[in-house]
Amino acid sequence: MKKNIAVIRGDGIGPEIIEQAILVLNKIADIYGHSFNYTEVDMGGCAIDKWGDPLPDEMLKRCTDSDSVLLGAVGGEKWNSVPGNMRPEKGLLKLRAGMGAYSNNRPAKIWPQLASASPLRKEIVDRGIDFIIVRELIGGVYFGEHKTEEVDGMIQASDLLIYNEKEIERICRIGFETAQKRNKKLCSVEKSNVLDSSRLWKKVVHSIASDYPDVMLTDMLVDNCAMQIVKDPSQFDVIVTENMFGDILSDEASMITGSIGMIPSSSLGSTTCGVYEPIHGSAPDIAGKDIANPIGTILSAAMMLRFSFDMAKEADSIEKAVSDLLDDGYRTGDIMPSDPEEAKLCKKIGCSECGRLIVERIK
Ligand code: IPM
Ligand code: MG
Repeated sequence: MKKNIAVIRGDGIGPEIIEQAILVLNKIADIYGHSFNYTEVDMGGCAIDKWGDPLPDEMLKRCTDSDSVLLGAVGGEKWNSVPGNMRPEKGLLKLRAGMGAYSNNRPAKIWPQLASASPLRKEIVDRGIDFIIVRELIGGVYFGEHKTEEVDGMIQASDLLIYNEKEIERICRIGFETAQKRNKKLCSVEKSNVLDSSRLWKKVVHSIASDYPDVMLTDMLVDNCAMQIVKDPSQFDVIVTENMFGDILSDEASMITGSIGMIPSSSLGSTTCGVYEPIHGSAPDIAGKDIANPIGTILSAAMMLRFSFDMAKEADSIEKAVSDLLDDGYRTGDIMPSDPEEAKLCKKIGCSECGRLIVERIK
């Protein structure tokens, strides 16, 4: 199969982790007889430096014209002082909106080899951690009006959180469908004790529940959910929630699995052309040192093969290679065991070595 992949290396550790994912994709292409063509796209701080715009329209077009987008990470200290509407993150939001990618799927699954890297107590981890956060990605407070103005001689700022029924319904349907393919439990997370947008959310999710009689729907307030994720994560199968709650809860959920560096994500709309990216940021503090963990990005490439290109076998072989690497005791710094005895059994590796060892294991 021939596929055109738009590649956004971005800022910070973005270029190093993307490089490893491309080596992995090239190995897959070799073994399975595919041809992947890569189109480079400038987005984020590097695009601000080069074009004065975090995502020029021409760059967005390269993405919408592709079969899918592979993204590293954007942002960094250097661009912190630019105006809000010109920040590197604006490029990311424009990409998500421009692709119509309203459904962001973030798995929180513990790799058995990394169970001891979880900050949770062993008896909690042993009950199992395997759930998915379905996060609404192109609505809510991220996309409402942002305003900073002077009122009564004081500067004040506001950000509007808006959702309409249609936006809520389409993401909740993805939540139900995801649950149908798994353990048939959907937890809808909101703040309906305070927010109108959450009360509408709750009403809409219940109004469509009868279309999915095989799925058990529960409601949870977001603050309680933050607590339950660390208290007993085994209770969750699929969580569906709005944009900002999903942003926060997915960082929390990644941490209990050991490291945010391991977690991939997919963002899809109504077509198979999606955005695939690790959920971590650009980590400028470790950029260029060849110590970042590229596995979240490599697993994102695997998700792209599975969900956008219908290449399940190929995705399986990447995931198996990652698992074999962990079995063999190789660890990037972020997933090294803290216990010195356990650490002795592991081999610490950098970003490019990690990529190379995974490529070697792909069969
Ligand atoms: C994420 C990130 C982004 C978000 C930032 C970089 C804008 O935190 O993908 O979770 O908030 O969506
Ligand atoms: Mg985030």
